[in-house]
Amino acid sequence: MKKVLLNEEELPKKWYNVLPDLPETVPPPVNPATKEPVKPEQLEVIFAHECVEQEVSDERFIDIPEEVRKVYTMWRPTPLVRAGNLEKAIGTKAKIFYKNESVSPPGSHKPNTAVAQAYYNKHEGINKLTTETGAGQWGSALSFAGAQFGMEVKVYMVKASFEQKPYRKLLMESWGGKCFASPTDLTEIGKKIRKEYPDTAGSLGIAISEAVEDAATHGDTKYAIGSVLNHVLLHQTVVGLEVEKQLADINMEPTIMIGCVGGGSNFGGFFLPFLSRRLDGKNIRFIAVEPKACPSLTKGGYVYDYGDTGKVTPLLKMYTLGSSFIPPAIHAGGLRYHGDAPILSLLKKLNLVEAQSYYQREVFEAGILFARTEGILPAPETNYAIKAVIEEAKKATEDDTIVFNFSGHGHFDLAAYDAFFRGKLEDYAYPEEEIKKAMEKIPRI
Ligand SMILES: Cc1ncc(COP(=O)(O)O)c(C=O)c1O
Repeated sequence: MKKVLLNEEELPKKWYNVLPDLPETVPPPVNPATKEPVKPEQLEVIFAHECVEQEVSDERFIDIPEEVRKVYTMWRPTPLVRAGNLEKAIGTKAKIFYKNESVSPPGSHKPNTAVAQAYYNKHEGINKLTTETGAGQWGSALSFAGAQFGMEVKVYMVKASFEQKPYRKLLMESWGGKCFASPTDLTEIGKKIRKEYPDTAGSLGIAISEAVEDAATHGDTKYAIGSVLNHVLLHQTVVGLEVEKQLADINMEPTIMIGCVGGGSNFGGFFLPFLSRRLDGKNIRFIAVEPKACPSLTKGGYVYDYGDTGKVTPLLKMYTLGSSFIPPAIHAGGLRYHGDAPILSLLKKLNLVEAQSYYQREVFEAGILFARTEGILPAPETNYAIKAVIEEAKKATEDDTIVFNFSGHGHFDLAAYDAFFRGKLEDYAYPEEEIKKAMEKIPRI
């Protein structure tokens, strides 16, 4: 069996909310001034009301609105594919499957939440959205989602990626989105950072500050977020719920589930529906994979920190490298975030999730092996998951079923592959000294 497909009618009708099933409560976002938990009304200044409700919901299953399901059917349910050629190339005894989220119009898992967030905002009378983007996948996804509901979308794109990937901007424009190289002079925080660091290549933390400021200072505009928060992981569980059904259809149970982690949304949405198996004592491991250049889960501290560089967001309890982190210009732009989702961070803290980190050259080698065996050129971010799959597959037995989330394709990342082929990619590990220094600047809660 090569491909496991579901019919349109089998597309989940509800998302899975892990909050009531977690062994401990996720620490709430905290107001940096009062050090008190943030009140929902405060979050509603920038987020849709419904998303804020979902952020703290204790309902285990939450209806996917019919309008959202209708848009999902443009590409969902997505295929679950047996990577038989990759298995042979590695010489593994295990079975390997991948969930192909690259078949969405923007090319990744990101529209699973973009469509939901655009829909809720539109439903609540909002017609303008702002956001940040690193690699450009999220900005493309929100531009696509905005086009489905006739909304204006403004994207602050990290300058380094904006320059590396001009075609992502054009894709956003094709769907009606407006894309700017961040830091811009459209916001106060952008102007301030440009003055202090005229040559900065930007960062996700800076772009978030700009997008949040824009939404907070315009009554008709709200902010949509591509990862990290509970409601984003909730929307992404459509992925894991489909995998659950697809594996059940062929009588398989996963023993190892793997995903790359930037903020934690593709990995979270993929494995959270399987968490209860682990809590019930079943043999199943969850492996989060990140760059050695941005090792938040493997080297960061589990503390309250700002979600952005400009310190305009509430504090979140998460694994972090410090919000002052300006990441090195590695090519997996979507993995260059200083923090991680609070849900994922808690599960890592409780040892229910493992974390691994790799250098960028070895992950590009893994991605090339995948392209040559399975045919699809992966996004640089996805290469991190593939590298971990290969390493685990080498050690696995015939009783193992490894399933990973193929979070996106790399068709807009050819400049990164060019750099790899020409020997221009460098390996880099973020220095422990820098992490220590950044930790000293973190607010004490
Ligand atoms: C293809 C792809 N995979 C993974 C990620 C990482 O984000 P997250 O951890 O939220 O899934 C990104 C982020 O931009 C991405 O574009």
